[in-house]
Amino acid sequence: MIIGVPKEVKNNESRVGMTPAGVFELIKNDHTVYVQSGAGEGSGFFNSDYQQVGAIILDTIGQVYAMSEMIVKVKEPIKEEYDLIQEGQIVFTYFHFASSESLTRAMIKQKGVCIAYETVEDEEGTLPLLTPMSEVAGRMAIQQGAKYLEKPKKGRGVLLGGVPGVAPGRVLVLGAGTVGIQAAKMAAGLGAHVTILDVNMKRLRYVNDVMPSHVVTEFSNEFNIRKHIKTHDLIIGGVLLKGAKAPNLISRDMLKEMNPGAVIVDVAVDQGGCVETTKATTHEDPIYIIDDVVHYCVANMPGAVPYTSTVALTNVTLPYVLKLANNGWQSACRMDKSLEKGLNIVEGEVVYKEIIESFDLVAPVLV
Ligand SMILES: NC(=O)c1ccc[n+]([C@@H]2O[C@H](COP(=O)([O-])OP(=O)(O)OC[C@H]3O[C@@H](n4cnc5c(N)ncnc54)[C@H](O)[C@@H]3O)[C@@H](O)[C@H]2O)c1
Repeated sequence: MIIGVPKEVKNNESRVGMTPAGVFELIKNDHTVYVQSGAGEGSGFFNSDYQQVGAIILDTIGQVYAMSEMIVKVKEPIKEEYDLIQEGQIVFTYFHFASSESLTRAMIKQKGVCIAYETVEDEEGTLPLLTPMSEVAGRMAIQQGAKYLEKPKKGRGVLLGGVPGVAPGRVLVLGAGTVGIQAAKMAAGLGAHVTILDVNMKRLRYVNDVMPSHVVTEFSNEFNIRKHIKTHDLIIGGVLLKGAKAPNLISRDMLKEMNPGAVIVDVAVDQGGCVETTKATTHEDPIYIIDDVVHYCVANMPGAVPYTSTVALTNVTLPYVLKLANNGWQSACRMDKSLEKGLNIVEGEVVYKEIIESFDLVAPVLV
């Protein structure tokens, strides 16, 4: 198959759909790979790195789309890319269709085969192509939180690890899923005292089994949250209700109970956030302050560490890219039910229930 890797056009997106290591595997399997000139630069991969493993560098994004049977990228296509997508062309990327009717209608019109990373789902119901980005965001949340706790950054001036004779900082983690566990692990590694809350006892049992004793688990309810926000310096929001808006766990009135200069990193901002005062921010202007509490609510945290994020993403996408390239999308999806769940729009027909419901579309007639 001919595979194309375009440069991302979305503002501030430095990740790329395929590393040289991924291209190497595709070429070993007798496929042809076109990479747009400069596509990997933001992640630290240069044209010469791709050429060394056999990729062909093309000058323009138009050439990459026009000459490829499958496009592998990171973010959903934006307006200027819509017309580049051809009938029957596979586009394998994050789409998040339910949040954009204009993108959905454009992809129906272009008649491509849209396979969305975020809906590929394994037998246990987990989303393997979303997990690495949650791992990155969870670990980064502590790095960012520690930075904004510093006085010059408007925080309360607490060092998470403490020093001999001074108690360590206290970190409250809401949600013991992928984000929460990675955040707890990083905070514990720095020597902070960590409290982690969840409504799922299985997750709390797991955390209790694997974490050191300065990571304490408690059930998540309003009483416990109200109690803990008074004594913790850094709060990480890592909750998720699948397919729904995040639950509101910290209301505006609760901010007054917190220490002045405390920091909230609401990683769940992309699902509306779990704090009433959360509103999405960017890497250029990541924080704002309400009632003396610093809010960090960047919606695309992994974008700040494109090298790590690109490698982590392509580690998990490559097996699916290989399957699609080796077998074509129809056979690959028949063979692999996880990949089949990634099919969202196929040659003009929306085949994913939630998208049909979101925009009152007509379901395709299956024969
Ligand atoms: N901002 C970013 O850049 C970024 C990056 C990656 C992920 N995220 C977001 O982070 C959030 C968490 O993702 P994840 O992969 O860790 O999800 P996950 O499903 O692995 O974990 C979510 C956890 O929240 C728990 N939970 C649900 N309701 C709760 C409540 N009331 N109190 C406490 N815990 C509760 C669940 O039981 C689960 O253990 C998602 O919204 C995800 O989209 C954001």
